[in-house]
Amino acid sequence: MAGDIIIKNVSQLVTVSGFEGRRGGEMSSLNIVEDGAVVIEGGIITRVGRTEETLKGIDPSGFTVIDGRGRTVLPGFVDSHTHFVFGGYREKEFALRLQGASYMDILAKGGGIISTVKATRSASKEELIRSGLERLDTMLSLGVTTVEGKSGYGLDLDTELKQLEVMAELDSIHPVDVVSTFLGAHAVPEEFKGRAGGYIDFIIKNVLPVVSERGLAEFCDVFCEKGVFGIEESRRLLEAAKANGLGIKIHADEITHLGGAELASDLGATSGDHLLYTSYKGIEAMAKARVVATLLPLTAFSLKEPYARARFMIDKGCTVALATDFNPGSSFTMSIPLVFALATLYMGMTPEEVICALTINGAAAINRADKIGSIDVGKKGDIVVLKFPSYLFLPYYIAMNPVETVVKEGEIVVENGIIKHRKG
Ligand code: NIG
Ligand code: FE
Repeated sequence: MAGDIIIKNVSQLVTVSGFEGRRGGEMSSLNIVEDGAVVIEGGIITRVGRTEETLKGIDPSGFTVIDGRGRTVLPGFVDSHTHFVFGGYREKEFALRLQGASYMDILAKGGGIISTVKATRSASKEELIRSGLERLDTMLSLGVTTVEGKSGYGLDLDTELKQLEVMAELDSIHPVDVVSTFLGAHAVPEEFKGRAGGYIDFIIKNVLPVVSERGLAEFCDVFCEKGVFGIEESRRLLEAAKANGLGIKIHADEITHLGGAELASDLGATSGDHLLYTSYKGIEAMAKARVVATLLPLTAFSLKEPYARARFMIDKGCTVALATDFNPGSSFTMSIPLVFALATLYMGMTPEEVICALTINGAAAINRADKIGSIDVGKKGDIVVLKFPSYLFLPYYIAMNPVETVVKEGEIVVENGIIKHRKG
């Protein structure tokens, strides 16, 4: 039957295990089973454990069977922060940055996010769906089974809705689950130049209620940054988002220290993201308020900024997630393998912590730790099989893809590294 799979004789079955985000020291244990097996029925995990006990009494006919000898099996990765639906590219901007131009200067001159806004406004829905499908395939081949995607390249009612509708469509036609975030406050559009507050009023009055009424987003996010949206503007928007039933995320302290982490803690946000310039106080506040600290090392790498202080955050008891921030400007990469390399080599995280950050804590960053992010009975059968016998190959095989097979809700969607799904 569709969605019925047995994976057995697994050299290292990394279950992660648990139904909520892991904080601090809890991120170190992966709950590994040697010679493990997983049974998935109707897309849901029904049994996990050592092969012999787990398969006792099961008739394997009717199941697709995967042999896990010499393999590592993990929960599907959750990329909990991306901007993957957009029109156009910004390769010239990247070249300018190589010559010394700064990301914020380019934005202030009407380039950067604003140039993607122009390209996204003029792109048809079909074009956005086509490029979106291609990107989701790439993510899937890297082991990502759930992705969060943000709007924010419309900055007007119609295009913000178009982006969110495209994500809803992609979610229904592609195996990767897409969780949508409304990021109408991503930049101040040219129509509101110099009037950031007026633009926030416009969003609160004209866009947010439509997004919420039509159920097009689960979260609302804001680029809380010097020269973009200040603390009070961000607070006003996020309080309105809460009142409209949306969860909250913040692009916080990415380029300067503005206090976004403190704001996220104050408002009880689901996550505070980036956090390159967050103060110690901000970190402590996030740990206390149990706001997921979502760190995006590919962005720091690409902008040549210092990495977020992951080690300190974990030692202070934060729930740390990692994500790619895939977008056309500050992080034009979906490379989960490079996240493993940077987080272990440059952010002081252990391989175990990185796995937690990309599975159960990624799930917590999008409010889904009860449904995905670990191999536990009752969770979705979203599984990654590595072609190596140990999870330690994840950081060691630098920036290379170790994923052999991906199972999404009990269906094989990537086999021997080749995309195989029929959806999309
Ligand atoms: O997370 N900083 C704001 N947003 C994105 C970049 C978006 C873009 O440059 O297109 C980020 O870095
Ligand atoms: Fe981002």
